Amino acid sequence: MNEKQRKEGQQIRQVDSTDIKSDSNHNLSRIKDMSSDDLISKYFQSTYEPPNMKKAKKRRREDIQIHYDFDIPEEMRGIGKGKKFMIRTYGCQMNEHDTEVMAGILTQMGYISTEDTSDADIILLNTCAIRENAENKVFGEIGHLKPLKLENPDVIVGICGCMSQEESVVNRILKKHPFIDLIFGTHNIHRLPQLIKEAMFGKEMVVEVWSKEGDIIENLPKVRKGKIKAWVNIMYGCDKFCTYCIVPYTRGKERSRMPEDIIQEVRHLAAQGYKEVTLLGQNVNAYGKDLEFEYGLGELMDEMRKIDIPRVRFTTSHPRDFDDHLIEVIAKGGNLLDHIHLPVQSGSSDILRVMARRYTREDYLKLVKKIKDAMPNVTLTTDIIVGFPNETDEQFEETMTLMEEVGFESAYTFIYSPREGTPSARWEDNIPMEVKKERLQRLNKLVNDQSAEAMKKYQDQVVKVLVEGESKKDPDVLSGYTDKNKLVNFRAPKDLIGQIVEVKVVNTKTWTLDGELVEAAVEVK
Ligand code: 5AD
Ligand code: SF4
Repeated sequence: MNEKQRKEGQQIRQVDSTDIKSDSNHNLSRIKDMSSDDLISKYFQSTYEPPNMKKAKKRRREDIQIHYDFDIPEEMRGIGKGKKFMIRTYGCQMNEHDTEVMAGILTQMGYISTEDTSDADIILLNTCAIRENAENKVFGEIGHLKPLKLENPDVIVGICGCMSQEESVVNRILKKHPFIDLIFGTHNIHRLPQLIKEAMFGKEMVVEVWSKEGDIIENLPKVRKGKIKAWVNIMYGCDKFCTYCIVPYTRGKERSRMPEDIIQEVRHLAAQGYKEVTLLGQNVNAYGKDLEFEYGLGELMDEMRKIDIPRVRFTTSHPRDFDDHLIEVIAKGGNLLDHIHLPVQSGSSDILRVMARRYTREDYLKLVKKIKDAMPNVTLTTDIIVGFPNETDEQFEETMTLMEEVGFESAYTFIYSPREGTPSARWEDNIPMEVKKERLQRLNKLVNDQSAEAMKKYQDQVVKVLVEGESKKDPDVLSGYTDKNKLVNFRAPKDLIGQIVEVKVVNTKTWTLDGELVEAAVEVK
C-alpha cells in the first residue's frame, strides 16, 4: 500500500465476498418499548435487514476496504467518565481478542472496567454460537441480568459476538428479552461508540448486525488482557463451510490483513516487552489467499522469525491448506514453536467427506508424516467431533485408531451439535445421546491416557517455562507454559512473572507438570 492510501485511511482490495448491495443491511433498528409481537412485526417491516444466513453464505468478488481512520466521535469521547463497563466473553480466542478491542474502545470513551455486574453501567455479553450448550449458557445469563436491569434501568445491556449474527437468536431476544438495549454483530464492533449513543439516547432496542462485511479496520484501540502474551489477528472469517460449522456464517468471508500491518503490530508488542504472540484466524493456513500478491502463512511466519519476541504460535489450522513451505519455515525453529494444533474432526474418510473437510484419513496421515519428518519433536493436538449424523461404530473406531496412530498429546473433543442454517442441521441427528456420550467418554479416556503418557517424557527433564502468574490453586506456586504448551507449576519468587525460566520437572500428571526452578531468567533464542 502506498503512503497516500494509508493517509486517506483506506485501501481497497478485490476478494471473494457476499453479493449483498452495499449498505442495504446497514440500518439501525430501534425497537424497544413495544409488545413482543409488535417488536417482531416492526422488526421485519423496518428497512433494517435481520441477520441472514443465506446472504452470509454467499462469496463473490467484491471490494474489501481496509480502514486506518477509526475514530471516536467527539461527543462520545468523554461520555464514559466516572462510569464502568463489564464484558463477559464466551467461546474462542477470536472472541477473547474482540473483547480486548471493545475494552479499548470503551476505555477511549472514558469508561473503566469492572468485574462486577451490579457495579457496571454497560454490560456486554460477547457470545459464542459454535454449539447449542454455548448458546444455552448465554440465554441463562440473559435471564440473570433481567432483575438487574429492572432495578437499574439506566444500565445498558448489550449482546454481541457470534450469536448476534444468527437470525433465530435475534428473533428470540426481540421476542423474549425486550429489556436488552443493544444487539450488534461481529462486523459492527467498530461502531460501538455510535451504537452506545443510540442506546443511551433512544428509547428503543438498537440492533445492528451486518450479514455482509468487507472491511478490515486497522487502527482499533485494544486493552490487552495481560502484558506477557498477546493475540494478533492475521485474518478474519472462513470460507471452508464444513457442513456442521456455523463460523463461516457468523464471521463472514476470509479476509487477510496486510502483512506489513501484522508485522508492525508484532514488532510493537515485542517492543512493549510481550514474550509470546499467537497469530489468530479461523483458518490461518488460508492466510494470504485473498491478497493480490503471492503470500502465505509460511512467508508471514518467516517474517516473525526476524522479530525479537521469544515465542510465536498460530491457531487454528486446517489440514487442507497446510502447505510444505509452512512446514519448512516452522522447522527452522527459533521463536516458532513446534506445537501444532491441527483439528482432524474424525478418523473416518467417509465422515470427513460428509463433513466437507476436503481431505481423507490418508491425506491427514500423510501431512502428519511430513510434519514429523521435518520436526521429529513436534507436539500435535487436535479437535474431534463424535456422533456426527450416521456415524457408525466402525467409523468412530477409526477416530480412536487415528488418535493413537498420530499420537496426539491432547484433544478438544465435542459431541456433535446441529446448528441451524448449516447443511448438516438438515440431516437427521440420528445418533442417540447415550451413544454419543459413550463415544465421547471412550475417546476422552484415550485422550487422557495419551496426555499422561506424553507428560511422562518430561520426568527429570529441564523445560523452559514462560511464567504467567500465581497458580489458580495456590498463590505460593507460580505457573506457566512450556513451548509445547504444557502447564508447569513450581515454587519461585514472584518477580519471575513474565520471564522465561528453566524448570526441572519432578512429577508428571495427566494435564500438568510439577517442577523446581533451575535458574532465573534465561536468554531464549
Ligand atoms: N458441533 C460440535 N462441535 C463443533 N465444532 C464446530 N462446530 C461444531 C458443531 N456443530 C468444533 C470443531 C471445531 C471446534 C472449534 O469446535 O471440532 O474445530
Ligand atoms: Fe469463536 Fe466460533 Fe464460538 Fe464464534 S462460534 S466464538 S468464532 S468458536
